[in-house]
Amino acid sequence: KRVAVLISGRGSNMTALIAAAADPAFPATIALVLSNRPDAAGLAVAVEANVPTAVVDHKPHGKDRAAFERILDETLRAAGIDIVCLAGFMRVLTPWFVERWTGRMLNIHPSLLPAFRGLDTHARALAEGVRLHGCTVHFVVPELDAGPAVMQAAVPVVPGDTPTSLATRVLTQEHRIYPAALALVASGAVALDADGRIAGPPAA
Ligand code: GRF
Repeated sequence: KRVAVLISGRGSNMTALIAAAADPAFPATIALVLSNRPDAAGLAVAVEANVPTAVVDHKPHGKDRAAFERILDETLRAAGIDIVCLAGFMRVLTPWFVERWTGRMLNIHPSLLPAFRGLDTHARALAEGVRLHGCTVHFVVPELDAGPAVMQAAVPVVPGDTPTSLATRVLTQEHRIYPAALALVASGAVALDADGRIAGPPAA
């Protein structure tokens, strides 16, 4: 399976996916790293790893999400992409784009969904006083951060945690579960069924 990783920033999850896919036994190839920001730090990391890169800048399109997404979609199809992995990609995608990639697009979110959808998850988890926090790899559906989970990992919240210390603990788990979840989807072990539910073995 040919995978595109979509980033907007440093791309540490992208790096973890590239590293995992370097194993010949991994059921997918990272065929493209695509950023909506020309200055995303992750692009240089991808170049260094000999992964093809593309930039589809959203700025020239202003509020015209449809125009931006048409180019995004064309770029992915031109590269023969089968699966899209959002990894710190900070553009909300419209239902048009999401539906074109249904069952073939994953996202990593830094919380135990359905808790803490949206931004600033670590600060909000601390404010709520939860004792467990974590991350989720899920299929992308039109509703933001709402798709079914492929894999989750939990971490403890410990006394003295700050959003930064908690983010670091969660990020270590993100780097572990994103490649594992991608492997499950790329191999066909886990899929989205016609009802929008996960078909496949429970993923721990
Ligand atoms: C991660 O915490 C991811 O869960 C969130 O944005 C961050 C991206 O980090 N959606 P990186 O660019 O993968 O380092």
